[in-house]
Amino acid sequence: MLSPILFSVAADSYEWAVREIRAEFGREVRIERVSGDLGRVAGPPVAELAAACDAGRIIFVRHLTTEVASFEELPPDYELADLVLGELPDYPKALAVQAWTDGSGTGGSYYHRLHDALADRGVTVTRSGQEVVISCFAGRRGILLGVNRLEHSLSDWPGGRMRLARSDDRVSRSEFKLEEAIATFGLELPAGGKAVDLGASPGGWTRILRLHGQEVWSVDPGALDPRLRGDRRIHHAATTAGRFFAENRVRFDVVVNDMRMDQVMSARMMVDAAAHLRRGGLAVVTLKGGGKNPLDGARRGMDVLRQEYAVLHARQLHHNRNEITVVARHE
Ligand SMILES: C[S@@+](CC[C@H](N)C(=O)[O-])C[C@H]1O[C@@H](n2cnc3c(N)ncnc32)[C@H](O)[C@@H]1O
Repeated sequence: MLSPILFSVAADSYEWAVREIRAEFGREVRIERVSGDLGRVAGPPVAELAAACDAGRIIFVRHLTTEVASFEELPPDYELADLVLGELPDYPKALAVQAWTDGSGTGGSYYHRLHDALADRGVTVTRSGQEVVISCFAGRRGILLGVNRLEHSLSDWPGGRMRLARSDDRVSRSEFKLEEAIATFGLELPAGGKAVDLGASPGGWTRILRLHGQEVWSVDPGALDPRLRGDRRIHHAATTAGRFFAENRVRFDVVVNDMRMDQVMSARMMVDAAAHLRRGGLAVVTLKGGGKNPLDGARRGMDVLRQEYAVLHARQLHHNRNEITVVARHE
């Protein structure tokens, strides 16, 4: 019998994630809700579930771990270390420990308990960046422990909840979405590339693209933040995306699109953008709108995108609200 898998989602998207898992693995898989943004599924192997998420067939799951134990309270350190180490085929030099809660707490005390228990056994413990991740979820009804390979976890953050530093340089909260997509999917932007940012105002994504060495054409009737004005490698086109492409002569390496419009219209604009993108060029787009059936809307948007792009990833990331992020390559 395979161990159950804990899957993290946005609380509002739980039912969509369940539908996707059943569509992939059959109606007989057992699924139950553990907490607002956490579910448990028994049946599929974690590698197969992760592969379906990586391939964009399951969009609404953002983190996975294989459940190995549950408690009312964490056991003493030596038992905890025995339990974790007993789950691993080889004695580890280093492990990542990630803890989170279903309340407002960060899970810091659980992290420290696991850290100390494992450090006492000579294991180096970090919060990320290791091949194997020990997860600890503290909910109202108990504590769940998971052990998973990072390659099957979808995200190297506790429950997929990526935390990015706030700073005075940030132009918008939307910045986090592009940063999260770049980090989660390991995207590499071409050195000295040319990028077009559709729906750029007030300029958060433009700022991130500049940090990744792109010269940016920022398209939006709305204004850019004054802090971006002095940068000669930012070209603000104060117009709509449709009008911009009617006149544009630049060939781009990257197109990003955070425009506020429905999924299919946004995807159609990406199809138009493809004529201005070199083959193999990278595309990042948020498909918004949710609607009555966000799953259907997302699928229809992706079908339109496939006219010109290979879809590489599609996921509702931690910083997405009523939207998903799609990464694609122009074919
Ligand atoms: C969520 S905001 C973008 C935030 C931006 N990515 C950032 O990081 O600051 C959506 C933007 O889409 C723009 N927009 C909507 N329709 C558009 C169109 N047809 N052409 C260009 N921009 C459009 C809106 O003016 C709005 O500024």
